[in-house]
Amino acid sequence: MRNICGDFPLLHRTIDDNPIVYLDSAATALKPTAVIEAEANYSRVLGANIHRGVSGLSSETTMHFERARRRVAGFINADPDLVVFTPNTTYALGMIASGIPKEHDARVLVSSNSHHSNLLPWMDRFDVRYVGDDPLSPLTVEEACDAMKRERPAILAINWVSNVNGSISPVAAICAAARELGVVTVVDAAQAIPHLKVDVELLQCDYLAFSGHKMLGPTGTGILWGRRQHLDHLTPLVLGGGTIASVDINGYELKSLPHRLEPGTPNIGGVLGLEAAVEYLAGIDENWLAAHQVSLSQEIANAFSGMQGIEILGNFNGSTHLPIVSLVSAIEGVTADTLCRTISDSSSVMTRSGLHCAHPIFRHYGQMGGALRISAYLYNTASDIHCAAEALERAVHPFLRT
Ligand code: ALA
Repeated sequence: MRNICGDFPLLHRTIDDNPIVYLDSAATALKPTAVIEAEANYSRVLGANIHRGVSGLSSETTMHFERARRRVAGFINADPDLVVFTPNTTYALGMIASGIPKEHDARVLVSSNSHHSNLLPWMDRFDVRYVGDDPLSPLTVEEACDAMKRERPAILAINWVSNVNGSISPVAAICAAARELGVVTVVDAAQAIPHLKVDVELLQCDYLAFSGHKMLGPTGTGILWGRRQHLDHLTPLVLGGGTIASVDINGYELKSLPHRLEPGTPNIGGVLGLEAAVEYLAGIDENWLAAHQVSLSQEIANAFSGMQGIEILGNFNGSTHLPIVSLVSAIEGVTADTLCRTISDSSSVMTRSGLHCAHPIFRHYGQMGGALRISAYLYNTASDIHCAAEALERAVHPFLRT
C-alpha cells in the first residue's frame, strides 16, 4: 500500500510545531493533491462555462464535465442521466422533499438516526413519523417493517450511517422490504459514501443523496440520484438557465434528465475535483480500506472506553461501527466545546464538538451539552487515535477528583 498520508498536503502543515492530527472527517474530509489540482486545473486551463456555446473552450469544458458525471455514475453503478450534480447532500435531500409529488396528508417515515438534513425538509411538507427506538443503534429490518405497516408512509427516508456514532443500518434489506410494501425509499448516504461500497442497483432504493466533500472531493459538490420514473416527475426546486429546452412568453419546456434538475452554472471546478476524488478512491483497495477502518474503530474503542471523565454516547463497537465516535464530558462544568478547543490548542488534534446537526438524537439521550466527536478516515493511523486520547486525558486530568 502506498503512503496515503503523503497524498494529503494538509497533513504536512504544523501549528505551533505540532503536526495536525485530523480527526474531523465526518464534517469534511481532507483533499488529496490530485483533487486540489483537478479543481484548480479548471480555472487554470479550461475556464469556460458548460452547455452554453460551441467555442472550443466551452466544448472542451463540457466534455470534461460530462466525463466527470460518467465517472461518478460508474462509482455508484448508476446511469449517468440519473446522476444530478447538487451543492451537497442537504441540497439534494431538500430537492427531493420539496419536489416529490405528494397526496394530501402524505406521511414520511424518517429514521431516528438522521441528521437535520434528512429531517427538516420533510417536516415542511409532510406528516413526519419516526422509526428506530434507539437512534444510535442500527435500524433493524423488523423495526422498519413494523413501522411501515403501522404508519403506512408514502416515503421512508433513511440514514445509512450515523454521523454521531458510525453505526451502520442494513439499508439494502430495508429498501427491499419497503419495495414490497410500495413505499418509496430515500437513502441519505452522506456518511456511507466515504467508507462503504455504494451500488444503487444492489441497494434497490428509489433516491440516494451524498456529498463530494466527505469523500475527498471539493466542498460545494453533491449528488442526487434517483430512478428515472421518480426523477422525471420531481418538480425542480429552482428553474432557469441550464434547465430549459425552450421558452416563449406563455411558458417553458424543461430539458430531459439530468439537466432539468441542474439550474444555473454549476460548480464546474468542484465537479472535476469530485471526479478526481472518485478516481482516487477507486484506486484504493476495498479490502484494505475495510480492514483499516475496522482497525481504527478498534483503536478508538480501546482508547476511549473507560477513560476517566469521559463517556461514549450510545454504544460503540470496534468491530461493527465505522470510526466515528461521540464523547460526552462526565465532569460538571467541563463542556465538549472546552475539550475540543483544548486538545486543538494544546496538541493540534482537530475534532468537532456540539450537537452534530442532530438535535433530536442528543435530546433523546438528555445530552444537550453536546459531545466531542472523533471521526477517522483512510489517512488516519493508530498513532492519531493515541495522540487524541493522550491529549484528551491531559485536558480532563486537572478536573478529576483524586
Ligand atoms: N453533518 C455533518 C457533520 O456531522 C456536517 O459534521
